[in-house]
Amino acid sequence: MEKDSKILILGGNGLLGSAINRELKKHNYQNILSPRSKEVNLLNKNSIDNLLKSEKPDNLFMVAGLVGGIMGNKKRQADFLYQNSIMILNLLESAKENSLGSKILYTGSSCIYPKINPQPIKEERFMKGELEETNKGYAVAKGMGIVACQLYREQYGIDANCAMPTNLYGLKDTYDLENGHMIPGLIKKFLLAKRDGTDITLWGTGNPRREALYSEDCADALIYLMKNYSSPEIVNIGTGFDYSIKEFAEILKKELKININLKWDLSKPDGTFEKRTDISRLKNIYPEFSPRSFEKGLSEIINNKDELKRILG
Ligand SMILES: NC(=O)c1ccc[n+]([C@@H]2O[C@H](COP(=O)([O-])OP(=O)(O)OC[C@H]3O[C@@H](n4cnc5c(N)ncnc54)[C@H](OP(=O)(O)O)[C@@H]3O)[C@@H](O)[C@H]2O)c1
Repeated sequence: MEKDSKILILGGNGLLGSAINRELKKHNYQNILSPRSKEVNLLNKNSIDNLLKSEKPDNLFMVAGLVGGIMGNKKRQADFLYQNSIMILNLLESAKENSLGSKILYTGSSCIYPKINPQPIKEERFMKGELEETNKGYAVAKGMGIVACQLYREQYGIDANCAMPTNLYGLKDTYDLENGHMIPGLIKKFLLAKRDGTDITLWGTGNPRREALYSEDCADALIYLMKNYSSPEIVNIGTGFDYSIKEFAEILKKELKININLKWDLSKPDGTFEKRTDISRLKNIYPEFSPRSFEKGLSEIINNKDELKRILG
């Protein structure tokens, strides 16, 4: 990927896509296209055909998708299955017909690994066990997307590559307390508690541990892979460190300078104790990769006026 390469970001207005956009601009890439879904709808093959036929991008980040947290997934399993399957299949088929030369980078997700894994989770665990019931539709679709990239590479020579990001958070996240992800949900709960002077009750014991990768660090790794990696083998993108939910809560209290009363609802389940990705493959490819701490990522969010407005309305 050169500074004047034509770069297409599908999903370029979402959490990860907007971070890729910002990182590319920071590094002086000028020729970036990031159409909204109402301009280029990936559920409609003609729509992506027209774009690839006219633009023939050199590099294509495929980070569009229907994305949500546990409840969002659980309530709409069929939608998550259908939309995430069709979007990647339409793109690959269209690339085959209209833009064979584009290099594609597609994102799976660490949450599509099987339910039970030795820790940390290596790439070899992909499709090696029973899936989590709550996001089966999403996991099957995203897993199929990865296999599809591998098969279109093998049969048609399309340079389609896949990365597996862990839990993300950052600017332009979806702060939906009911249907969104755990980290943005926690951030919103603490900001609301600070604004309204209320207590917070969190589920379970607070002992389970989770990774949290700032979206721009994920974008940095994806851009590096786009420039330096071409292989059917998937690559985890994580942090290499994790925090317990209690630790996340303590960091939020400290960074937001609040002294609220935190309650733990022990009648609610803890979920899986640990879910941490093994990033040794990424570190072999990109030894300088060094994601920021949760403290640092959080401060980018809470010191951004526009983002605070988005979160609190
Ligand atoms: N968030 C995480 O924690 C996480 C973790 C691991 C992996 N990932 C992966 O990273 C990728 C991006 O996730 P994200 O969190 O950035 O999602 P997001 O913020 O919800 O953004 C999704 C993007 O997809 C676009 N999109 C949705 N339906 C579309 C359609 N029919 N046609 C074209 N574009 C469509 C949306 O475009 P408009 O805004 O224009 O409608 C939006 O920009 C996904 O592949 C996801 O699986 C995310």
